Amino acid sequence: MKIKNICCIGAGYVGGPTMAVIALKCPNIKVTVVDANTEKIKAWNGPLVNLPVYEPGLADVVGKARGKNLFFSDDIKGAIEQAEMIFMAVNTPTKTSGEGAGMAADLTYIESCAKDIAKYAKSDKIVIEKSTLPVRTAEKIKDILEENSNGIKFEILSNPEFLAEGTAIKDLFKSDRVLIGGDMTSSGQLAVQALVDIYRNWIPKEKIITTNVWSSELSKLASNAMLAQRISSINSLSALCEKTGADIGELSKAIGMDHRIGPHFLNASVGFGGSCFKKDILNLVYLCKFYGLIEVAEYWHQVVKINDYQKNRFAQKIIEYCGGRLKGKKITVLGWAFKANTNDSRESPAINVTEMLYNAGADIEIYDPMVEKKTIYSDIKLYWRSKKASENITILDEVKPEDLKNDITVIITEWDEFKGLDYSKTKLFDGRYIISNEMIG
Ligand code: NAD
Ligand code: UDX
Repeated sequence: MKIKNICCIGAGYVGGPTMAVIALKCPNIKVTVVDANTEKIKAWNGPLVNLPVYEPGLADVVGKARGKNLFFSDDIKGAIEQAEMIFMAVNTPTKTSGEGAGMAADLTYIESCAKDIAKYAKSDKIVIEKSTLPVRTAEKIKDILEENSNGIKFEILSNPEFLAEGTAIKDLFKSDRVLIGGDMTSSGQLAVQALVDIYRNWIPKEKIITTNVWSSELSKLASNAMLAQRISSINSLSALCEKTGADIGELSKAIGMDHRIGPHFLNASVGFGGSCFKKDILNLVYLCKFYGLIEVAEYWHQVVKINDYQKNRFAQKIIEYCGGRLKGKKITVLGWAFKANTNDSRESPAINVTEMLYNAGADIEIYDPMVEKKTIYSDIKLYWRSKKASENITILDEVKPEDLKNDITVIITEWDEFKGLDYSKTKLFDGRYIISNEMIG
């Protein structure tokens, strides 16, 4: 089966970059990315310097393909009708109400995608789960599609995305692996092959793994859980280092040099952030509980608990450093994104740490090179428990040396532009302190 027309529902951090790369690497395939958010689509069609997602290299890829075989549109119906293959790359946040609230994945958006596909499809389609989903979601999607389908055939594949923000384009160009799960029926395997053929335009054969749908869905949750578990493990040890005088950096190095362990994801930090780790682990915990695996659920839950502990510990440490009170102190917070090289602040440790400093009485100045001011304000409004917060908070357009004359500078996100600062030391010079991730342990 030769695919000529792809549609992707969801023009976010995954849908935008992945489809831009597919379009670039497959010039004979028309790729249309649609989204219910018309403002976002406008931005994807606007100036390359203001794309809704900031990723190194993304503007270049979009610039090369947009208008040729890459299109961003809010015509969801038209794009579904035309496509032979439809990716679903919509958000799957943690549920905030109903059964499983605070743990399970909210599948509202994925279900509404499936309903749209069933409603608008006029010919057979390959439907691909790109979003991260609980194991066995494909069954639910199949039910929705078949219930409303008027005899049209749908093959459902799972093709989870492993890109990390900040390195998305690099990860997509040179993926460690591409995972495709499909039904073991002949039509299922034909659909798998159609997707393999697309990736084969730039991914070596040995890096494309095909499996059944359930293994593919669960591999994604498990991969994120394993990565996050390494961070929580090293962060838990950073607390012990502090008590004992051991150095967490030296520990990481020594542990990581064992080739069976490897050096990655062993950097002690203020805690992991991002839209994926916490929600995916909580989802895994929920699934384990659902299947009665209480001990397994508790094991993974601890990864999130240690992360909360680490964020609190970091903020508490700054407060103690100032004698327990921050009243009258001015603090500059450098970095709001959850990691460097992204404009994404979802679940950023900056949100919690800054709230604790603010609640302890500090005046706060915040600077991030890429996160928009309105996003920072809305994060504060949405996620701080102290709702009246707005007084004594300033968001800076740039960091000038005089801003760093404040009592304390906290580097939360390790943007390159902060690297010139000597933040391996806690005391920079008289009256000005830089406290960074490295201070932990
Ligand atoms: P996002 O919030 O950036 O983008 C999702 C987009 O889907 C939004 O623009 C939203 O408007 C749109 N949308 C939602 N429902 C829609 C509908 N019914 N019709 C049309 N548009 C709709 O989310 P994201 O970060 O791109 O994540 C998408 C999925 O990929 C999630 O399941 C996530 O867990 C997974 N994932 C994310 C990353 C990452 O680094 N962000 C990496 C791997 C996997
Ligand atoms: C993660 C997974 O890496 C990716 O494969 C998946 O597709 C989506 O979720 P992402 O959240 O974008 O990607 O970035 P990642 O590089 O994993 O960083 C997540 C958080 O962990 C960041 O806050 C980062 O600062 C932190 N981190 C990472 C550490 O604290 N220590 C480390 O050693 C590595």
